[in-house]
Parts: sequence; C-alpha cells; structure tokens
Amino acid sequence: MTTLHDRLSRPLRDLRISVTDRCNFRCGYCMPSDQFGANHAFLPKDQLLSFEEIHRLASLSIRLGVTKIRLTGGEPLLRRGIEDLVGLLASIPGNIDLAMTTNGVLLPHHAEGLALAGLKRVTVSLDAIDPEIFGRMNGTGAEVSRVLAGISAARVFGLPVKVNAVIRRGWNEGEILPLVRWARESGVTLRFIEYMDVGETNGWKMEEVVSASEILDQVNGEFSLTALPPAHPGETALRFKHTDGGGEIGIIASVTRPFCGDCSRLRLSAEGKLFTCLFAATGHDLRALLRGGADDATLSRSLGAVWSDRSDRYSELRGRLDPPGQKAEMSYLGG
Ligand code: GTP
Ligand code: 5AD
Ligand code: SF4
Ligand code: SF4
Repeated sequence: MTTLHDRLSRPLRDLRISVTDRCNFRCGYCMPSDQFGANHAFLPKDQLLSFEEIHRLASLSIRLGVTKIRLTGGEPLLRRGIEDLVGLLASIPGNIDLAMTTNGVLLPHHAEGLALAGLKRVTVSLDAIDPEIFGRMNGTGAEVSRVLAGISAARVFGLPVKVNAVIRRGWNEGEILPLVRWARESGVTLRFIEYMDVGETNGWKMEEVVSASEILDQVNGEFSLTALPPAHPGETALRFKHTDGGGEIGIIASVTRPFCGDCSRLRLSAEGKLFTCLFAATGHDLRALLRGGADDATLSRSLGAVWSDRSDRYSELRGRLDPPGQKAEMSYLGG
C-alpha cells in the first residue's frame, strides 16, 4: 500500500462518500426549505454512481492509503439497498473503519441490516432535545423521539454511536446543556459543531456562530471537563472528558479553530465528483472515466493526481480568500 501526500504534505486517509443528495429533513443550516422546495431538481437516478462503481473507487482509494470510509448524503438511508453497499465496502480487505453519518430517523428500520452488513459505527445528528426546538432545527417538524429511537436501535445492534449537534445562535444555543446532560445519561459521545459557511443557500452570518470557547464556557458552568489529546491524526474535534468519568465531549471548531493542517479527507459526491475540500466550488469528474471504460490503473492515477495536486485550506484562510465561486452544497458533496 502506498501513502499519497498532497502539496502541503498531508496524507490521504479518509474517503467520505455521498450516496444521495436527497434528505427527509430541511435543516436551515444545510438545506433550507425555501431553497430546497417541492420543485428542487435533485440528481436523477442514472446520474448517481452505482454501488459497483462506488465499490470500485473505494477499493482503489484503499490501495492508495485510505483507512476510513464514511457514507453520507444528504441522508444516506434514503438510498435504496444501502445495506448492499455497506456489505460490498465491508468485504474489501484492509479492516477499514466503515462509518455512516445519518439523521437517524430511518435507523429503526436499518440498524440491524447495517450492522449485519458490516458497518462499524454511526454518527447521528441531533441538534436539540427539546421537541419544539428540534422540530424547528430540522425544518420539517419531525419528532425528536424518532431520532432517539434510531440511536437506541443502533446501540441494540451493537453499533457505537456518536452524536453531532450544530449550534446556531438564536436557534438552539439553549440546548447545549440539555444535550450534555442527555449524552451523559445515555453514554454517547457528543460533539458540538460550529455553524459553518458551507454552500451558498444557508445565509450564513458570523453572528450566528456559537464559538467553541462559548460552548465550553456553558458546559464548564455545570460540569468539570478535562482536555484530551486527539484520538488520531487529522481529528476534527477538540476532545474533553467529564472529570468524574461521565463520558466524552468534542467540539468541531472549523470557524474559530480550523483544522486544515492535517486534513486527510477526500469527498466523493453522489454523481462521482471528487472534492478536495468541504468548501470547494467544483469537483473532479470520475464518473466520465468510469463509464468511458477506464481501467483500474487509469482510475487510480486520476484519484492520485487529484490528491497530489491539492492545496486546500479554506477554513484557515476564511475571510482572506476571494470567493471561490459558488461553493457546492454540503447535502450534495457530503458532510
Ligand atoms: P470520527 O471519525 O468519528 O472522528 O468522525 P469525523 O471527525 O470525521 O467527524 P464526522 O464525520 O462526524 O464529522 C462531523 C462534522 O465535522 C461534519 O459533519 C462536518 O460538519 C465537520 N467536518 C468533518 N470533516 C470536515 C472537514 O474536513 N472540514 C470541515 N471544515 N469540517 C469538517
Ligand atoms: N455547519 C455545520 N455543520 C453542518 N452540517 C451540515 N451543514 C452544516 C453547517 N452549515 C452537519 C450536520 C450533520 C453533518 C452531516 O453535517 O449537522 O451532522
Ligand atoms: Fe439532511 Fe443532514 Fe442536511 Fe439536516 S444536516 S438537511 S439531516 S443532510
Ligand atoms: Fe479540509 Fe477544507 Fe475542511 Fe480545511 S476546510 S479541514 S482543507 S475540508
């Protein structure tokens, strides 16, 4: 196995694969309902990479050094037959860390099948415990009890769960402590995420970012935390543990404490474009090569060239960069 490095000497380690650009939620920070309405043009089925195509690219990327694969969307559980894709990816030799990011609503139907197919863990988005606030955050009024049932189902079938909460001022900063209390009782790792200026549709404003230090101040007001070192190189979260042993908390501070320095993440959109940054405007089309009959060596060279040529560090340069053009939406390129 080789290790590829980009122009800033960062190794390729993670591949995040979006399997659909659709979602059954309309979180305002990601797919605001006024922009993603009934007439929104999602990708047609024949433009999505097939499971075989995804499997082929994933296998090649593993040979190039990838050790972690995360399935994302949109909402990955909306992709029909997703368990079959998990099974295909889990069968690739190399003991890959195979995870999924989901909003959790469909997990009660899928957790058993996903675990049997070889998924290793799930990350569930949960931005509030209060039912009304949760309904507003997800933009559809969906009930928080459904996500909590999804989390329970995952754990019943042996899937370790992390929970992600995006905090947005004026919307859910009052849920920081309730979420921490809930996570302590439930024994799940909770990670807060600073609201990011990803995509072009969410109307991001700096004033709506609740910074990592503000989040920490709130949590420290009620609990005692001890800082932990990163769990692995390229870790996105600042890590803390409850000093009394009540579990772990992370903060993903992409705005106030950027972590581009060891970013090892490559993203594959549902239609087969490789994005070298969450904030990129355009991707590199691999579907044309796949469907044009390219052999493995050619595909592998293309994958490698995209990584080697990369010098992205958007979060570190935020505000100092000229706009990169219309940034791609997170629901399309994958969180
Ligand atoms: P673990 O493997 O469990 O540590 O997961 P992770 O660190 O990859 O985190 P996860 O996949 O749960 O991502 C959590 C959130 O962090 C994403 O939904 C994004 O909001 C943010 N995030 C992840 N990767 C990046 C990145 O490369 N850049 C930026 N700016 N944010 C990211
Ligand atoms: N800022 C921060 N996190 C975001 N996510 C989606 N959009 C944003 C944003 N603008 C997160 C979701 C979910 C994951 C898929 O990405 O909360 O956890
Ligand atoms: Fe859907 Fe996740 Fe985006 Fe919310 S954050 S709209 S659940 S893809
Ligand atoms: Fe990586 Fe881009 Fe995120 Fe920086 S902003 S950590 S380069 S994906």
